[in-house]
This record gives sequence, structure tokens and C-alpha cells, in this order.
Amino acid sequence: MDVYGLCLGGNVFGWTIDREQSFAVLDAYVEAGGNFIDTADTYMRPNQGISETIIGEWMAARGNRDQLVIATKVGSDGGLSAENILSRVDASLRRLQTDRIDLYYAHKDVGDVPVEETVRAFDQTVRDGKVLHVAASNVPPERLVRSLELAEREGLARYEWLQPHYNLVEREGYERDYAPIVERFGLQVAPYYALASGFLTGKYQPGDTGGDSPRAERALSYMDERGERVLAALNDVAAVRGAAVAAVAVSWLLAKPGVVSPIASARTPEQLAQILPIELSDDDITRLDEASA
Ligand SMILES: NC(=O)c1ccc[n+]([C@@H]2O[C@H](COP(=O)([O-])OP(=O)(O)OC[C@H]3O[C@@H](n4cnc5c(N)ncnc54)[C@H](OP(=O)(O)O)[C@@H]3O)[C@@H](O)[C@H]2O)c1
Repeated sequence: MDVYGLCLGGNVFGWTIDREQSFAVLDAYVEAGGNFIDTADTYMRPNQGISETIIGEWMAARGNRDQLVIATKVGSDGGLSAENILSRVDASLRRLQTDRIDLYYAHKDVGDVPVEETVRAFDQTVRDGKVLHVAASNVPPERLVRSLELAEREGLARYEWLQPHYNLVEREGYERDYAPIVERFGLQVAPYYALASGFLTGKYQPGDTGGDSPRAERALSYMDERGERVLAALNDVAAVRGAAVAAVAVSWLLAKPGVVSPIASARTPEQLAQILPIELSDDDITRLDEASA
């Protein structure tokens, strides 16, 4: 799949923005050259399915389905049993108003279903022509390896992409546990929370206690000594590049092995314009690596 270097996060649609504002962000993303949209059947609780519905209505209105790569997920509600996967894929297709999902993720693996059942169910969705590629998110490393080995051994559709929690203030879990698996199996990586819920846009200041976003509390949890060091480095690099802080944060991820398209969302076209990837130098990357170590 040929995808743009920023995957548009879809959990905002029907949550922090309404249908009309969602259409404006989606239009702006495509106008900027974007083609890769990430959603899930549970976005956004408690209004499950609203994000897929809005994306489906927008694609129908614009007639642009064939130009897009659509990723959605199953399993954060109801788990990764064959029954749940095989029924929910149809519900996602209906809401998205399409006949195939380009990338279908296991959203969350809590370990209650045998790996083999899940892998065979995803393989079935591919053989049925409903899914083109399968992928994993929030699957524990050991179960991810077992899934990949099983699929390779049995000639089943295997996870080709990984969607990990990875950004400048969340490095250790991914770099220690998942990066070696990515290298071994040649996975493509689309990190989520690329902006750490807005923290890495630089809009929160030390001492802030809240903000106008439901994400503010989560974002502000990163405001410690290391977080402030990362923000200072982002500000320096952004100044040198003449770019927005958020764009630098997204682009740092793109420099990491295996990373193809970091996922971030935007509430407005103005926010979106500031998260599009830019070129960084090796010195920029080193400065950010050191500040976030
Ligand atoms: N696989 C998983 O388990 C999982 C988990 C979480 C997310 N995801 C995926 O990853 C995507 C990205 O995560 P996320 O959307 O939750 O968080 P994020 O990308 O880390 O943060 C995005 C938020 O930051 C704020 N923002 C963006 N650009 C900005 C700018 N230029 N200036 C100021 N603020 C800006 C906006 O929120 P405010 O304006 O409200 O502050 C925006 O919604 C999701 O949409 C979803 O598709 C997957």
C-alpha cells in the first residue's frame, strides 16, 4: 500500500468534532495529499460506530473511496474471538459504505482467546474479500510473535502492520519490546498518539491545570522534567526548520526504523496544517533523541 506519511486519526469524528467539522478536516487532509485514515468500530465510546459512519458518509459524498486507504479495528469491545471478528467486519463495512477494508487491526488482545482462533478468523476475512491486509495493535509482544509464526507456518494472512503507542514521551515500551519484532518480521509501523494527546503540539505550558479539550488531563500528565526537556528541544528544532512543533514531533517518528505513517488527529483544518510531516536533519533527530532519552 502506498500511503502518505501522516495517517489521519479518526477518533475525533463524532467525539470532539461534529459531522460538518469532520468533513472539513477530512477535506483538508486529502487536499494536503493525504490518503490514509485510521478509525475503529468503537470510536468513539459511548457513541460506538459514529466515526466509521461519518467517514462512510464523507467518502460517499466525495466519491473518493478508491483513492483512500481505510484502516479500522475490531476487538476492543467483544474481544478477538472468531465470532466477534466475523460479525463485526460486516458492521464496519456497512457503516463505512464500502466493500473492503484496506487494513483491519486487532485492536486489543487481552489474552482470553487462543492466538490460533484470532489468526484464522482474520485470514477468513481476507479470503472472503472483505479485508485486504491485517494488522495488530495492543497485542502483547509474545502473542504477537506467536501469531506471526503461526500465520507464516500455516500460510495464513499475517499481521503486516503494527500500531503501537509510540511518541517522543512514550519510547521505552515500543523500543524495547516491539522494535525487535518489527525488524525480524519486516512489519510496517503506524504509531498512535503521535502527539501524546496534544502535549507534543507545545500548546500546554508548565503550571497549566487544564484546557479546552477532553484530552487535556492526559496530555498534561507528561508535564514533568523530561516532558519540559522534550518541549524545549521541539521548540528549538521547530524554530530552525520554520515549522510547527507538532510537525516536528510527527517527523521524528518518521525517522525511526519501520515507521511508515504516524497517526495523529486534528480538530480543525488549521491544526491539520501544523501536523503534516517535514524534513528533519540528522542533528535534529539526535537533539530530540537525547532530550527524550
Ligand atoms: N490503537 C489504539 O489503541 C489507539 C489508541 C489511541 C489512538 N489511536 C489512533 O491514533 C489517533 C491519534 O491519537 P489521538 O487522536 O487520540 O491523539 P494525538 O494524535 O496524540 O493528539 C491529537 C489531538 O491533539 C490536538 N492537536 C492536533 N493538532 C494540533 C495543533 N496543531 N495545535 C494544537 N492542538 C492540536 C487535537 O486535540 P484537541 O484540540 O482536543 O487538544 C487533536 O485531536 C486516533 O485518532 C486513533 O485513530 C489508536
